[in-house]
Amino acid sequence: MSLLTTSFAGLKLSNPIIVSSSGLTDSAEKIARLAEAGAGAVVMKSLFEEQIMMETNQAIAYNAYEHSEGYDYFSTYIRQHKVSEYLDVIRNSKKSCDIPVIASISCHDNAEWTSFAKEIENAGADALEINILALQTSKKYEYGSFEKEHVSILQRLKKDVNIPIIMKLGNNFSNPINLIDQLKENGADAVVLFNRFYPVDIDTDTMTHTVGQVLSNGSELSNSLRWTGIASNVVKNIDIAISGGVHDGDGIVKSILAGANAVEVCSIIFEKGPEFIKVMNDNVIDWMNKKGFSSISQFIGKLNAGSVNDETNMFERTQFMKYFGGKH
Ligand SMILES: Cc1cc2nc3c(=O)[nH]c(=O)nc-3n(C[C@H](O)[C@H](O)[C@H](O)COP(=O)(O)O)c2cc1C
Repeated sequence: MSLLTTSFAGLKLSNPIIVSSSGLTDSAEKIARLAEAGAGAVVMKSLFEEQIMMETNQAIAYNAYEHSEGYDYFSTYIRQHKVSEYLDVIRNSKKSCDIPVIASISCHDNAEWTSFAKEIENAGADALEINILALQTSKKYEYGSFEKEHVSILQRLKKDVNIPIIMKLGNNFSNPINLIDQLKENGADAVVLFNRFYPVDIDTDTMTHTVGQVLSNGSELSNSLRWTGIASNVVKNIDIAISGGVHDGDGIVKSILAGANAVEVCSIIFEKGPEFIKVMNDNVIDWMNKKGFSSISQFIGKLNAGSVNDETNMFERTQFMKYFGGKH
């Protein structure tokens, strides 16, 4: 057994690096390349509910003009076409590599798209990651309703599929611990902390809205470390992968020490290419050798919130009070 073997959501991984959902994983060829470079697993580019609906709506606009009687056929065709392409990527990836291939669906409600999940399972995906990233901006927002939507989507999926289900959460919950606990109670195999919102910015010269920094930087890891450190201490029997700001071997070690079984990486692979997977894994091995660990499981959660007392609990510290006293 390799030094770096870990398990995540019931899947056996040769090492803790999962390449996360993005354009890096949108074809069987790219997935094979990542497997060759040593990835422990991949999460495929998400099949977006919006993407499917948008294409369907374009069909409606077209059809309504002259071919209205064809609407049902046309919209069903577009839907199936998208799904079938996605299923082909799963099948071809499973043929060309032997690492776990995790499918991903980005969604908002527990309606029509859930029927895709069974097809994804039948195509050979090893697990399904669900990403329900959305801002809650309505003045009439009912507190807790977004969390309930997560649970209801999960419940519906659990009726249909047997592969592990991984819930990738946004970072916009006031209490992710309660949600993670509910997800575990309803059969989630793992959570990913956290997804990243599409970044907005403003160009002050042109006075227009622009896209902010698309790729993350290493300082973003802190937020995931905090919540992983707290969650892994109090919610048992659910695996955690950290996503967001893991940029080097040190970031992987920190994530595991905080309680993660694995990490999901995206930005750093965009920046440095698949070859960097080996560099990061080698750095983890060097650290393990230096510290005398012979397996990942020996240090998962070793520095989580259970390892600190009230005085030293950095995970739940929020204010910068000491700085006002001139102390660091
Ligand atoms: C260009 C790009 C595309 C992405 N597409 C998806 C996606 O389709 N589904 C998803 O769940 N996350 C998507 N993400 C989010 C990443 O999977 C990841 O969670 C996030 O970038 C944080 O990890 P990082 O700091 O390693 O980049 C995307 C990120 C980027 C930068």
